[in-house]
Amino acid sequence: MRLDWDRAIAAAQQAHAGSDEPLCAFIYDLPALKRHAAHLREGLPGQCDFFYAIKANSDVPLLQTLAPTVDGFEASSGGEIAWLRQHFPQVPVIFSGPGKLDSELALALQHGATVHVESLHELERLAVLARAGGKPASILLRVNPPLAELATTTLVMGGKPTQFGIAIEHLPVCLERLRQEPCLELRGFHFHLLSHQLDADKHLQLLSAYLRQTREWCEQYGLRIEHINVGGGIGVNYREPQRQFDWPRFSTGLASLLAEEARRHGDDVPRLRFELGRFVSAFCGYYATEVLDIKESGERVFAIVRGGTHHFRTPYAQGHSHPFRVVPVADWKHAYSRPEAVHRPVTVAGQLCTPKDVLASDAMLDRLRVGDLLLFQYAGAYAWHISHHDFLRHPHPQHIYLQEDA
Ligand SMILES: Cc1ncc(COP(=O)(O)O)c(C=O)c1O
Repeated sequence: MRLDWDRAIAAAQQAHAGSDEPLCAFIYDLPALKRHAAHLREGLPGQCDFFYAIKANSDVPLLQTLAPTVDGFEASSGGEIAWLRQHFPQVPVIFSGPGKLDSELALALQHGATVHVESLHELERLAVLARAGGKPASILLRVNPPLAELATTTLVMGGKPTQFGIAIEHLPVCLERLRQEPCLELRGFHFHLLSHQLDADKHLQLLSAYLRQTREWCEQYGLRIEHINVGGGIGVNYREPQRQFDWPRFSTGLASLLAEEARRHGDDVPRLRFELGRFVSAFCGYYATEVLDIKESGERVFAIVRGGTHHFRTPYAQGHSHPFRVVPVADWKHAYSRPEAVHRPVTVAGQLCTPKDVLASDAMLDRLRVGDLLLFQYAGAYAWHISHHDFLRHPHPQHIYLQEDA
């Protein structure tokens, strides 16, 4: 997705001009999010559903922007279900994730959410609750099969022993249990084996493996299923921003894959449901911050900025140096001097008392001065929402939601 830098820069400059304190803000470009979501939707063939995993960013303005385009939302806690129902009473909801409480399962049933079951124990607890409520529950089994097609990315949740999903050797007993349980209706299988997939062809191979594996299980266990939830996991390339996941290539490949499936298996091809998080909302967000200090330590130059990883933990969480732009600020109305770095690699650190509070490392800059603004891109997913906001009790950043131009 091409970023509309001018809008983000203008918003940062306006927020900076309107504040006595150094700038620190998340800026979300909602029209850009809307366009991006529409682009993703258009690329999905008709046999696909498009859900948004709200864990990536559950701010209401973002959810409201996405709601008309997506088929529903994925929640991973009772808190997220309650949040969704408070703001979107009617939108279809999926409930997934490990360690669900009975109270959360009951909430999911009360609100008609489809539950992605993670274990035999969870299946049994859900059965008790569904029986007590007298209403059947729609479920998918989250499975963790070893698949040869599983590529290695920086974050893998399956294909090897992990805490996620039902290990392949326990699938028969879960299916047997389901046969005796009319209150639980098996709609399909859920796979979320990895995150940070940047290669469209490899992702297609994985989806093809999900289809093949599901067909084998259907034959082996005499099942008829409605859909396969293929999870999220499409990545954002923070390290090489110019090389993003090729969505048009993926869409074309997916259409061919599903056409081939239909040719070989007729009407018996399940729908594919996507529950994407990062790839939906990352691009619309920016973390804007102001340079407070610049100093040298040995050979290195450090810029200390307002805020840090307690607001924007993404680079630390993923172990990368986050891309950003410098927005020079001409005005300097202070009586003291203005430190600067010229043609130097600069490491950008925040205000926390830990050497881990680094947002970017050794970024080569033409010129950076105290008082300049930095705009970190791709901050709309797993940014504010995964950060430890109250460490050191610094104030929270502003949250600015850009609307359509008048
Ligand atoms: C079960 C499940 N679905 C969907 C997602 C969203 O993944 P992503 O943001 O990588 O698209 C996650 C993220 O961890 C997840 O655990």
